Amino acid sequence: MRGRFITLEGVDGAGKSTHVEWIAHWLCERGVDLCLSREPGGTPLGEKLRELLLDPAQQVDADAEALLMFAARKQHLAQVIVPALERGQWVLCDRFTDATFAYQGGGRGIAASRLAILEQWVQGSLQPDLTLYFDVPVEIARARLMATRALDRFEQEQASFFERVRTGYLERARSDPARIRVVDSTQSIEDVRAAIAGSLTQLWARA
Ligand code: TMP
Repeated sequence: MRGRFITLEGVDGAGKSTHVEWIAHWLCERGVDLCLSREPGGTPLGEKLRELLLDPAQQVDADAEALLMFAARKQHLAQVIVPALERGQWVLCDRFTDATFAYQGGGRGIAASRLAILEQWVQGSLQPDLTLYFDVPVEIARARLMATRALDRFEQEQASFFERVRTGYLERARSDPARIRVVDSTQSIEDVRAAIAGSLTQLWARA
């Protein structure tokens, strides 16, 4: 039987990384054979593109950025995601196409209709079965980020960029509420986990 595809999304600093391992553990405890991956990245080619895309020293045109995100994604789908799902594995991916609509669409201002053409080209009708979008006000996300490490090319953007990214995510979530669950990431870790567990349980029951 085909596996299930779960993606995690949020603005930088929204707290999704805090929950990746917990979600992986929740699934593995139930006997799920899990493939854990991330975007941009997840393949040798994709990881090289990630390095370039996140490098603060690179000057990247907005369309080139969107095309490189989709190029990395196509490789990831062909080499990792689709084969894993066909083997019956579940795929848990840290970011996917919703990030392109939020960052390159909302953040950089590329029309969603143009991104939709690339989405159709690269993935056809394939969509995640469940997307957990971790939502926080931008000032909270910024404060969390500043407290951690050196900032990459995206993380160095202004707060106004992240406001547009967040709006992009919320619009995308409104357009597909059955797939995209908005998790209020300002709650305590326990409450966030309870919300995640609720969504995973529903997906698990359908599997
Ligand atoms: P990460 O550090 O959370 O894995 O994300 C890498 C960065 O790449 C993050 O700032 C968001 C950005 N990104 C895009 O701009 N578009 C995309 O399609 C993806 C997958 C990530």
